[in-house]
Amino acid sequence: MFKVNDNYQKLPGSYLFSTIAKKVNTYSTANPDKSIIRLGIGDVTQPIAPSIIAAMHNAVDEMGNAATFRGYAPDLGYEFLRSAIAKNDYAARCCDISADEIFVSDGAKSDSGNIQEIFSVDNKIAVCDPVYPVYVDSNVMAGRTGTYDPKTEMWSDVIYMPCTMENNFVPEFPKETPDIIYLCLPNNPTGTTITKSQLQEWVDYANKNGAVIIYDAAYEAYISEDDVAHSIYECEGAKTCAIELRSFSKNAGFTGVRLGFTVVPKELKCGDVSLHAMWARRHGTKFNGAPYIVQRAGEAVYSDAGKAELKQQVAYYMNNAKTIKEGLKDAGYTVFGGVNAPYIWLKTPDQMTSWEFFDYLLENANVVGTPGSGFGPSGEGYFRLTAFGSYENTVAALERIKKL
Ligand SMILES: Cc1ncc(COP(=O)(O)O)c(C=O)c1O
Repeated sequence: MFKVNDNYQKLPGSYLFSTIAKKVNTYSTANPDKSIIRLGIGDVTQPIAPSIIAAMHNAVDEMGNAATFRGYAPDLGYEFLRSAIAKNDYAARCCDISADEIFVSDGAKSDSGNIQEIFSVDNKIAVCDPVYPVYVDSNVMAGRTGTYDPKTEMWSDVIYMPCTMENNFVPEFPKETPDIIYLCLPNNPTGTTITKSQLQEWVDYANKNGAVIIYDAAYEAYISEDDVAHSIYECEGAKTCAIELRSFSKNAGFTGVRLGFTVVPKELKCGDVSLHAMWARRHGTKFNGAPYIVQRAGEAVYSDAGKAELKQQVAYYMNNAKTIKEGLKDAGYTVFGGVNAPYIWLKTPDQMTSWEFFDYLLENANVVGTPGSGFGPSGEGYFRLTAFGSYENTVAALERIKKL
């Protein structure tokens, strides 16, 4: 008789977005005349920029011509894209990352879930709390997290690093030394980040303790402050302790197109074992390359026209972020984030729980956000709004909230 991977049975249901959808459905069915504004989900709404669409059209035409047709892509990514990334995301920021340290993929969700595979099941992970759920869940599936306590909503073998207004959302070195440290900066869901010198402290800590940092920089394009690192490799010594995950979803609107990459420096080793070689082996075995058309689209992200168009797109969303942040402040809320990330994290008023505030906002302002408790126990009492809606909807939502 076959056996299943029992670790999957340990996973608590992921009720967050389905519970939100159900609540919104129930409300809109009972109140068909109400127009609901959704500022909950982290998906983009602006169309793909024209120069990127043009590059995709060209690539589609190439696929229809025997002379230019491409079959399987190289599993680690086309050279044209890997070099464009190395030049624009790394060399331009004085980071010494070469094209062959970059592994092109179909997005940061897959990479952030898959990367744990190259580490022993005995490793102890540390995560920020609240957190992007994929880091923990993928480790649960691998059997690395111990048992789940539904009361505390915590796993016995996971080290949690609370990030709340009390510590300014800056993770502190945990009492117990972790082997694998997940950092997502700028952060989803809190929209906050840390300075380059604070990140340098994490790099030093990891090198000193023989830990590896999995650094998720999916929101790098939204950084506006000078003292914030765009890549962990801006920190000295990061090449011996850090893997960086990047996505084209939020900087270029590729959530439905699918493209990302992971950087594994050749210097990153466990004894004599190269993590670069391990990830290359894993990627080559289990992944058959991101589509040619999509990689050409990715290349266009780094063209002059692409850069100019995307700068405008990011500015559009960040103008929404500003609108939300200032609007909420005017209405008396305590607000965080929204300066280096497209997320606004607010403290729920009057001691409301995250879900109580969700219901309150839905019923009284017809605005949908995301309860902070859905991202981890330290998210309780907070609420996330995203800047990814249209400007008109963002303004309308804030007008309604201000009237409450
Ligand atoms: C922190 C973080 N990492 C990764 C992802 C997923 O990115 P991708 O669309 O490239 O899979 C998201 C998406 O919301 C995210 O918030």
